[in-house]
Amino acid sequence: MEKTLILIKPDGVKRGLVGEILQRFERRDVGITNLRLLTPTIEMIKEHYKEHVGKIFYQELLDYIMEGPIVAFVIEGNNVIKMARTMIGDKDPIKATPGTIRGDYGNSIRRNIIHASDGEASAEREMKIWFN
Ligand code: CMP
Repeated sequence: MEKTLILIKPDGVKRGLVGEILQRFERRDVGITNLRLLTPTIEMIKEHYKEHVGKIFYQELLDYIMEGPIVAFVIEGNNVIKMARTMIGDKDPIKATPGTIRGDYGNSIRRNIIHASDGEASAEREMKIWFN
């Protein structure tokens, strides 16, 4: 069994996609073990995105994630880390396959609705940031 972190970013919440996104995970029959709506602190965001410090989009990324509330949740099940990444789709809207969350609702590499941890180590690290 694996666990991974999913964030519905401020644009996903504002656009009313929370129910739709949660339903997609429920229909895959994975367990949702934690869920919260929160406005994160700048410290949480900096910790979460520390690997992107210095990148050209870093400041824009911080501003975007601070725009409003986020829905954070943890899913549990067999191979959920890779499964969630497949379900959310490529961050580049040109590459995001229809049927994936970004492929159905996204049109920007920067404002891309949703985040899912990209591996076991990042899932462990990120779950601690959002759920102590
Ligand atoms: P996420 O998967 O949460 O991880 C890093 C985030 O940086 C990404 O989603 C986007 O929101 C943002 N970002 C902005 N520009 C880029 C870019 N050119 N490449 C990758 N990520 C970007």
